[in-house]
Amino acid sequence: MRTNYKLFIIALLGLGLHVQAQEVGLKDVLGRYFLVGTSLNQWQSSLRDFQAAPVVEHHFNAVVAENVMKVDALQPASGDFDFHHADEIADFCKQRQLTLIGHCLVWHSQVPAWFFVDKQGQTVGREELIARIKNHIATVVGRYRGRVRGWDVVNEAFLDDGRMRPSPLYNIIGEDFIEIAFRAAHEADPDAELYYNDYSMALPQKRAAVCRMVRRLKEKGVRIDAVGMQSHVGLDYPSLADYEASIDSFAACGVKVMITELDINVLPNPMEFGGAGVEQDFAYQQRWNPYADGLPQEKAMELEQRWLDLFDIYRRHAAQISRVNLWGIADHNSWLNNWPIHGRTNYPLLFDRQYKEKPVVRKIISLFECF
Ligand code: G3I
Repeated sequence: MRTNYKLFIIALLGLGLHVQAQEVGLKDVLGRYFLVGTSLNQWQSSLRDFQAAPVVEHHFNAVVAENVMKVDALQPASGDFDFHHADEIADFCKQRQLTLIGHCLVWHSQVPAWFFVDKQGQTVGREELIARIKNHIATVVGRYRGRVRGWDVVNEAFLDDGRMRPSPLYNIIGEDFIEIAFRAAHEADPDAELYYNDYSMALPQKRAAVCRMVRRLKEKGVRIDAVGMQSHVGLDYPSLADYEASIDSFAACGVKVMITELDINVLPNPMEFGGAGVEQDFAYQQRWNPYADGLPQEKAMELEQRWLDLFDIYRRHAAQISRVNLWGIADHNSWLNNWPIHGRTNYPLLFDRQYKEKPVVRKIISLFECF
């Protein structure tokens, strides 16, 4: 009798697992409208973190390297390219027939120190910097030709008020570093899609500046396929109306919109905090880390509603959007545990710290099933 009971329980568990395995993934339903992506860190793409791959296979059809395709990872010393980790993620995608998106070719951050200085340690000249950018792009885009669907060619060139960011790229070359980068990427892989990617894209002044840039590039015959709205959002920022207005504005410029780095910050932050600039760094205080032991029910509900509000926007704007990409799979992976304050416990993604899907995943799928 006892043995029969045990067998019955085992059978039920087996059935439960089977049903779970049969449940549709995000990509099976949302993928009818746009690519559904996630970023992967190097531990996940190398399978050292072996829990990530099954989740990716079940829920996603596109992948972005969180860090290993940035300039500091690929060309740590001048002319000395290291493709080890980038090849690993390209293989990960090939084996699973996932679309690989390249991130990112030209960015003021995560650039090795040598990139902006000459042999004497002085600021490098305009022509030399252009040559370095062109060489980096030709080498990297050339290597992954046919394997990367599209590239974030330029990342974060504008400040939140719409002015050009006074980075070494802008200070040394001027605003045409953007056009130079896009032309170089197109030359290296004429079939690759090319994107401009930035944060705080719901801000009207930033939106206007990016639209002006897109129109100028198009007038000059420079290829640009999509604008990436990073979408590092909070529970109460940006306003949904501003966010939607930006999707409409970018689409009206004749490009697709991509939601490229989606996550939701549920933690309180100091007044001075804003945007997603990686340089922000505030001292840890207990009051900025209130949910270390778990998210209270009312916050979890608020978070769930925010996910549903965002995905409802993506549903209604599906014709304008070509990819929705999460910035990480599970909560413990997220950069938001360490930014803008180190060592916090945040809950910004769709899977929990055990890689278990949160209840909101089924609700998002239902939203698109009724579409
Ligand atoms: O790999 C080193 C490791 O060897 C070292 O021991 C450790 C010590 O801190 O640092 C590790 O590098 C860190 C890297 O992430 C990998 O974990 C860097 O310090 C850290 O700065 C880096 O942060 C990344 C950040 O970009 C800067 O590149 C985040 O993971 C990544 O999520 C974040 O992504 C950016 C997008 O590329 C662009 N948009 C904003 C977004 C969020 O900042």
